[in-house]
Amino acid sequence: MTISRRKFITNIGAATLAAQLSSNAFAIAAKRTGLKEYYADDFKIGAAIGGQILNGNAELEALLVREFNSISPENCLKWESLRTADGGWKWSDADKYVDLGMRNKMYIVGHCLAWHSQVPNSVFKNASGDYVSAEELKKKMTDHITTVVGRYKGKIQAWDVVNEAIGDETGNPMRKSHYFNILGEQFIDHAFYVAHETDPAAHLMYNDYGTERTGKREACIALLKRMKERGVPVNGVGIQAHLHVDEPGVEELEKSIVDFASLGLRVHFTEFDMDVLPNIWKIPVADISTRFEYKPERDPFKDGLPKDMEEKLALRWESIFKIFIKHRDKIERVTTWGISDDGSWLNNFPIRGRTNYALLFDRKHQPHEAYNKLLALRK
Ligand code: G3I
Repeated sequence: MTISRRKFITNIGAATLAAQLSSNAFAIAAKRTGLKEYYADDFKIGAAIGGQILNGNAELEALLVREFNSISPENCLKWESLRTADGGWKWSDADKYVDLGMRNKMYIVGHCLAWHSQVPNSVFKNASGDYVSAEELKKKMTDHITTVVGRYKGKIQAWDVVNEAIGDETGNPMRKSHYFNILGEQFIDHAFYVAHETDPAAHLMYNDYGTERTGKREACIALLKRMKERGVPVNGVGIQAHLHVDEPGVEELEKSIVDFASLGLRVHFTEFDMDVLPNIWKIPVADISTRFEYKPERDPFKDGLPKDMEEKLALRWESIFKIFIKHRDKIERVTTWGISDDGSWLNNFPIRGRTNYALLFDRKHQPHEAYNKLLALRK
């Protein structure tokens, strides 16, 4: 049966209009409500959570669930948080953390199993102040790691197994931690082997700061190559990315992504934040032991963030996320070290009591201009 040319065009027009209406309706129905959905095809979007949420802040938890699909524990899974003075266990906060991630079907990260900081000296030294034997330390590590990883097996999908084992001195030698002084690099191997034997399905990472910069990046690559040559079961590398608004350049970040990925490892940005305050000492950030005195000139935005700095921050976050999107195939996750400025550790590091603007949400838990720029990149 033939139909008139006009009728044919009318039918096509109606079909196209219907298709258009249905696609608009679909778009409205599938309206993306948070960062995690805008970046669903790129990488997971995570946030570190601390006492604010674990102590029950429903409004902040709602923001977390709306915007993020991965969580990291700022402190609750560290040795000092989990263990009592006599070597016993205290699970309350860690259980709350994992339960929150499970009920919201999030990618739950564990942080961290072997770190030189926040571990009592009694783990490494006996009553007379001498180091315990290598076997004694390995036994303590095995007990700690099998208990913690075993408790959350099948719930915590990824672990920062070893954190910050590389030093910041010239040449970035291995950090002379108690772990290293007793076991050498074998402390790293042991931590990974025990974690893998306890939960073979867990994604195991080496995590460090400053590895988005020349020098420490190359030291970290060399360490990872040695680990892989020794058959250590490492799956991913955590670039903490505690950045400053002025440095490092995006080309440094891009080089780290490409170079770490070339080792066959997944790249995680694990503690992303952006310090906007004067970095007058140019230290490699995030070494928690560093401290400096408060001076008003070191705290220029305590009464609010000037518009030009808000804009500068927005452009900085945008320029970095453009690189992340370019290398989305290599990146597993981008986690910010906190949710909103009021909860950022950078308000107290390396100077206590400053007002920083390090994250995507402000002190009223409203999005910074940077947030809008990141959405616009995935519109
Ligand atoms: O919870 C206690 C509180 O009861 C007590 O009154 C108070 C006294 O100062 O201390 C509180 O614990 C503090 C804890 O943060 C919770 O606020 C610890 O003293 C303090 O040392 C701890 O700082 C954490 C730091 O790691 C050391 O563990 C920061 O919040 C946390 O953001 C920071 O995170 C590290 C990563 O784990 C590794 N990469 C670097 C990053 C920044 O340093």
